[in-house]
Amino acid sequence: MTAQPKPITTTPDISGGPRHVAIIMDGNGRWATQRGRPRLFGHHAGARRVRDILESCPAAGVKYLTIFAFSTENWKRTQSEVAGLMKLFRKYILTEADALKNNGVRVRFIGDRVRLDPKLVEMMDALEARTIENDSVNLTIAINYGGRDEVARATKRLARDVADGRLNVDEIDEETLPRYLDTWVLPDPDLVIRTSGEARISNFLLWQSAYSEYEFVNTLWPDFTAEEFHQLCAAYAKRDRRFGGVKG
Ligand code: FPP
Repeated sequence: MTAQPKPITTTPDISGGPRHVAIIMDGNGRWATQRGRPRLFGHHAGARRVRDILESCPAAGVKYLTIFAFSTENWKRTQSEVAGLMKLFRKYILTEADALKNNGVRVRFIGDRVRLDPKLVEMMDALEARTIENDSVNLTIAINYGGRDEVARATKRLARDVADGRLNVDEIDEETLPRYLDTWVLPDPDLVIRTSGEARISNFLLWQSAYSEYEFVNTLWPDFTAEEFHQLCAAYAKRDRRFGGVKG
């Protein structure tokens, strides 16, 4: 595979809020357990939250929303939870496809598709193709995604290009490498939110979030509202991002 062309720079956000928000949607299991229900009940409630947050993106000035739905480590969960989550992803695509298409949402998936059920992959490909013309919000869903795995896969492709003479070793730099990542077409996230009170990044967008702002909130994902999302976006607008430089 050859390197992808450079991503096109899109219109800057005039509100001062984050243009790209990435979310680690944590706490579904605890939310369900608190209610004496199985963990999958929490995941279903979590999937409904995705719709609310996505719909609130235009008002918050958010053009890119990236959500962590299933990590490369999540395969360690019980077979029934994994199967239930995979079924939920299929259901989400089936039930939401029309609304996503009609609301101008462009959907992309990141992560390694090789281990996923071919039927699910087919549905993911179809949804990407169906929403390719859309541009109001860019929704990226990470399934079987891990930041380290992504960098390893990217490195493999890059090494192949070097071996085949399509890329010169001296051309490899901070601009070249991200063109091999799953996110090559996306801007880096401005803000990464993690719900449920855990303060770690769990292998999410490792390269891309080098200069992102972080918000760790106690709310469990199924309780996370559009209002809280907007508050976090507004708080971001007040932050002073220096990217390693000094205040101008
Ligand atoms: C983490 O909570 C959540 C997940 C591993 C799954 C995330 C999936 C969804 C929010 C729903 C499906 C999404 C789409 C796009 C349809 P956890 O289970 O680790 O919670 P816990 O830490 O309380 O156990």
